[in-house]
Amino acid sequence: MTTATLDETDYIIGTTDAEIDRLGFQHGLWREAALAAWRKAGIKPGMTVMDVGCGPGFASFDLARLVGPSGRVIAVDQSPKFLRALEAGAKHRGLANIETVESGLADYDWPTAQCDAIWSRWCLCFLPEPEQTLTGIDKALKPGGLFVTQEYVDYRSFQFAPSTPIFERFRDAVQESWDKYDGDPCVAMKFPAAFARLNWDIEDMMPIMHAARPGDVMWDWPITWLSQAPDRLIELGFFTEAEAAEFRAYIEVRKADPNTLLMTPMVLEMRARKPE
Ligand SMILES: C[S@@+](CC[C@H](N)C(=O)[O-])C[C@H]1O[C@@H](n2cnc3c(N)ncnc32)[C@H](O)[C@@H]1O
Repeated sequence: MTTATLDETDYIIGTTDAEIDRLGFQHGLWREAALAAWRKAGIKPGMTVMDVGCGPGFASFDLARLVGPSGRVIAVDQSPKFLRALEAGAKHRGLANIETVESGLADYDWPTAQCDAIWSRWCLCFLPEPEQTLTGIDKALKPGGLFVTQEYVDYRSFQFAPSTPIFERFRDAVQESWDKYDGDPCVAMKFPAAFARLNWDIEDMMPIMHAARPGDVMWDWPITWLSQAPDRLIELGFFTEAEAAEFRAYIEVRKADPNTLLMTPMVLEMRARKPE
C-alpha cells in the first residue's frame, strides 16, 4: 500500500472538485435539518453568525439569506480552494454579507464576543483538538450566544443489511484513517463534557439517523460518499486495490437489491448557550 500525507489545507476526505460537488449534494439532503436547527436557535435577520469549517459554503449561503443584508456571516475554513468556491458562489447568488476567513482552526485568531450564533457541521470530527476549537468558539460568542452543531456521534451505526465482512473492513479503514489524522468519527460523544467545562447550558440534543432503501432520497447520501471513498482510502494507504474492488462489487449488489436496508451514520444535533 502507498501512503500519502495530507498537506496543511487538505483534510481526510479531500478537497477535489468532486468533493465540492458531494458537499453541495449532501447539503441539499441535510438542508432541511440545518434550517430547522437554526429556526429552533432563533437565528434571524441582523444577527452575526459564524460558520466554522464552512467548506465551499453551502450552509453559509443559507445562513446569509437568513440573517439578511443587515446581518453578517463569518465563514472560516483552512481550504483556499473551498473558500474561492464559496466566494464565487456568494457572488453568483448576490450575497454580499459573507466574510471569508482562511485559517486552520488551531491558528485562528478568534474574534472576541462578535457572534450571536456559531454553526459547525462535520468539521470538529476532523480536528485533533476539538476542545481547543470550542474554546475559540466560546471566545467568539457574545454572552448569551448559541453554538449549534450537527456532528457524527456513532460511526458504527452506519450499516447495511444484508451485511458482509468487506463493509466492516471498509468502516474500520475509515476509522483508521480518522485515527491516523487525529480525527474522531464519534466526536459528538465528547460534547456534553466539553460544553460543561465552558459553562455552556445545553438547550437541546437530538440524534438524527435515516433508514433508507435503494431509490429513497437519503439512500443517495452515503452512496455518493461510498463511490469516492475507496479511491481516497487507497491514496491514503488504508485500503488495497483488491479490497476496493470487492467493496465496489458489494455496493453494486446492494444497489440492485430493493430489499437492502441502509442505516445512515448517526449525527447528533446539539444547541448550547454561553452564559450571559
Ligand atoms: C466535510 S467538510 C464540511 C463542510 C461544511 N461544514 C458542510 O457541512 O458542508 C469539512 C470541512 O472542514 C474543514 N476543516 C477540516 N479541518 C480543518 C481545520 N483544521 N481548520 C479549518 N478547517 C478545517 C475542511 O476544509 C472542510 O471544508
